[in-house]
Amino acid sequence: MSVELATLREGLAYTLDRTDLPLGRKVEGKVRDSYLPGDGTRVLVTTDRISAFDRVLGTLPFKGQVLNQLSAWWFETTREVAPNHLIDVPDPCVTRARECTPLPVEWVMRAYVTGVTSTSIWAHYAKGAREFCGHRLPDGMKKNEPLPEAILTPSTKAHEGAHDESVSRETLLERGVIDEATFEAASAIAHALFAKGRAVCASRGLILVDTKYELGRAADGSIVVIDEIHTPDSSRYWLADSYEGRLSRGEEPESFDKEYVRRWLAATGFTGDGPIPPIPDDVRVEASRRYIEACDAIRGVAFEPNLEPPLARIAHNLGVAA
Ligand SMILES: Nc1ncnc2c1ncn2[C@@H]1O[C@H](COP(=O)(O)OP(=O)(O)OP(=O)(O)O)[C@@H](O)[C@H]1O
Ligand SMILES: [Mg+2]
Repeated sequence: MSVELATLREGLAYTLDRTDLPLGRKVEGKVRDSYLPGDGTRVLVTTDRISAFDRVLGTLPFKGQVLNQLSAWWFETTREVAPNHLIDVPDPCVTRARECTPLPVEWVMRAYVTGVTSTSIWAHYAKGAREFCGHRLPDGMKKNEPLPEAILTPSTKAHEGAHDESVSRETLLERGVIDEATFEAASAIAHALFAKGRAVCASRGLILVDTKYELGRAADGSIVVIDEIHTPDSSRYWLADSYEGRLSRGEEPESFDKEYVRRWLAATGFTGDGPIPPIPDDVRVEASRRYIEACDAIRGVAFEPNLEPPLARIAHNLGVAA
């Protein structure tokens, strides 16, 4: 593990919660603050905010840096497979990107029957469903087993406060959410990226279990990958080494992702509605440690946290007043 626990504890005091930079119109997502300077670019500041169950729950030390840098690494690594929005990374937490028009679908790829929420593929399967988003699922599967092949399970982008809905290709086309040609092109990109991601992970002793891509139309009409890619926020990662043994003992796989926080929350009884339980510092530090561990395992190099106060550093690196 590349970062001392003491450093993570110190980081609790200066997490990046919100930004307010003079860079043009600001759009706040759950995790990223985007700025639109009006020149065809989008400046994405990945904050330390953590979201789960579609709610913002607080911050984790260094999460913004980890996510932004890991995403940039994956964008470079998958550039040949599909074009993406990345222009450059002027700060550990900042990506300058091509501004695109997001497609109104989240492109979720899955290779395993798993999940903790009531809308997960495992929850459906456990209730007896043998179809998910138009895909036939075999009988007799156990939780966390691999699907016969990777499947695309698109979900609709819910408006604020609502939860996303998993739907089939047919439903999307029937509802007129997207046209067939765009669906097919996007589906091919999602499959190709996921295959590449799984192969890279396998060579690092990791299993890329599932992931969510966002795609957008660039100014030239092409479809490009936007937002983030293969981060522990958008993906599930398991450790390959211990997977078989744990599966055969009926234990949960060792995971490297947001699942740790989701499980902690679920254990308190929180599943997305009502007041958010305050996350103790020990849990925040452990979650941060896991994000960094995932980043190190994937990139094969040690993450180096930047310890400067983030707001002043970001303003400086972008050449604006803090
Ligand atoms: N290149 C881009 N062009 C246009 N929009 C983009 C681009 N990259 C990302 N976005 C949008 O910017 C926002 C990023 O914010 P964030 O990741 O916090 O999103 P969110 O959807 O609120 O949260 P979550 O990822 O947890 O669902 C998203 O709405 C995403 O669709
Ligand atoms: Mg997002």
